[in-house]
Amino acid sequence: MDEIKKQGDLSPETIEKIKEIALPWKGREDMLIEVLRAVQPFAGNCITEEAASIIADCMDIPRAKIYGVSTFYAFFSQKARGIHIIRMCRSAPCHVKGAKAVITAFEEALGIKVGETTEDGLFTLEYCECLGMCDGSPNIMVDDDVITNVSPHQVPNILAKYRIR
Ligand code: FES
Repeated sequence: MDEIKKQGDLSPETIEKIKEIALPWKGREDMLIEVLRAVQPFAGNCITEEAASIIADCMDIPRAKIYGVSTFYAFFSQKARGIHIIRMCRSAPCHVKGAKAVITAFEEALGIKVGETTEDGLFTLEYCECLGMCDGSPNIMVDDDVITNVSPHQVPNILAKYRIR
């Protein structure tokens, strides 16, 4: 799951879905981030070369621009990722409150290291910077959900919740 997806990896259905999202915004470079955010979940939770090329054609935007935006923002990835992205805050307040123990619990429960994706393609483990909710440290973000005051013993329950989604 960790390799960079190449041309031809997207299914015909996915290609159609990307066109559906991007075509209405032809010539609207100001909408590029929104389009990338909408496309990413359908394309292996990443912006593949192929996806970038389709978006470029549909929106009439240079591929270099799409590459620049998708590599600038940490939210976007060029590598295939799991269906659910677990991000552990590693900034100082969360670090001091036990982020290391939490990330270790996730690594052990999932059998992967930070930066990797589980064999079943369900979870990717990443670090992130401060989520702006330091009062609740240590914090994680799973997809768009922020979970505060996380302790290692909560990890199995958190994973179970996202396994059934
Ligand atoms: Fe983790 Fe601010 S340091 S949320």
